[in-house]
Amino acid sequence: MNDFASAPVLDTVQTTLNVMDPAIDPLEQAGSISGAMVYGDLFAKAFFAKKGSALNRVKPEHIALGMRKIDAVSEREVVFDGRRMLMLSSNNYLGLASDPRLSGAGIQAIQAWGNSTSGSRLLNGTNELHEELERKLAKFKQLESVVAFQSGYMANLGAISALLSKDDVAIVDKLVHASILDGCTLAGAQVRSFKHQDMKSLERVLQEVGYKACKLIVVDGIYSMDGDFARLPEIMALARRYGARVMVDDAHATGVAGPHGRGTADHFGIDEPDIVTGTLSKAFGCIGGFVGAKKDVMEFIKYNSRAFIYSTSMSPAVTSALIKAVDIIENEQDKRINLWACTHHLLRGLKAVGFNTGVSETPIIPIILSEETTMFELVARLDADDIFASPVIFPACPRNKPRVRISLSSEHTIADMDRVIESCERHGRAMGLIH
Ligand SMILES: Cc1ncc(COP(=O)(O)O)c(C=O)c1O
Repeated sequence: MNDFASAPVLDTVQTTLNVMDPAIDPLEQAGSISGAMVYGDLFAKAFFAKKGSALNRVKPEHIALGMRKIDAVSEREVVFDGRRMLMLSSNNYLGLASDPRLSGAGIQAIQAWGNSTSGSRLLNGTNELHEELERKLAKFKQLESVVAFQSGYMANLGAISALLSKDDVAIVDKLVHASILDGCTLAGAQVRSFKHQDMKSLERVLQEVGYKACKLIVVDGIYSMDGDFARLPEIMALARRYGARVMVDDAHATGVAGPHGRGTADHFGIDEPDIVTGTLSKAFGCIGGFVGAKKDVMEFIKYNSRAFIYSTSMSPAVTSALIKAVDIIENEQDKRINLWACTHHLLRGLKAVGFNTGVSETPIIPIILSEETTMFELVARLDADDIFASPVIFPACPRNKPRVRISLSSEHTIADMDRVIESCERHGRAMGLIH
């Protein structure tokens, strides 16, 4: 007897299994057999999309808006469906994703080093490109030591899981990135959260945890769905008072924020916190991540981070392109200046016509609405105007605050911003969102 046979609803299960035609996508069949229960089949969860999941809540035409297949990219536009569209959805903050200087460096590295390192950094996967990139990132971020990871997700996973264990406490802002929470899970650490940006709530948690446990406060530098800066100076002061360390995920701020583009600490004019992580896929225009801290801490992370040890290192093409990216980010301030000029112009314009952009103060600008269908309609109307913005729904944001998420690039122009404001205003009025 197999597991199905021991289930109390055997008849229903067999009927269910019989109607499943293997030639047809199970998800397509699910509608006709919904309501039936399947015990003991691991794939049942896949066949019956969970009630309340985004797939069930959202109309097919809305799902299509979230998965538009892009045919070609330029700095500020994409080609989708045969149309050139203004791209307001990418993380290509400094236009480096298609910069030919990075591509050239990548091609040269492939010719010299091949396609892959074919090994983990601890074995055969370290070459001089990795070391040069890490030296340059450390100098740029003004950190004693930096280690490159294969993605920003792995940087967070690797740093947190190496440093924390079950007796330690991660104290996280409620809106931190998923990779931070996954790192805590992998570490088996205790997790306490505080209300988003609420320093009183953070202090309460620090008091409750007390002085005995080792504590790491973890925040994003810029929050990816709201576009606000972490209140880093206050967080660091509280950390010092209660004996905690601070880690900032500077994924959206590195290359973008501060007079030198170093990130959140640079924005506030303060020293970097104890640990900084980030992605190399946004402002740096490639893929990869990094973790930086004091040298001893980085040595510890290197030799204790499963994400670092048990995975092939960054490819030569990517590493070489990233070395070029650091040079450009350090030397070409104009890109950042234009990015912020566009940011301030768009924020001012959207607010002036009556949209709610929440607490955004950065190139991530949400138009916050109250209903998912209305939000999708606005995204669809912008799409019809050849403007590509992202629909964001729960669980990526609170259920009652779906949003059209806009993210800007240094390649945008003030004229682009005026076009976006005009289009949002016209549709917002037609839909009764603004008056
Ligand atoms: C705040 C934050 N941290 C980490 C990541 C993960 O970075 P990556 O895409 O390089 O894995 C992202 C990317 O979405 C992010 O927004």
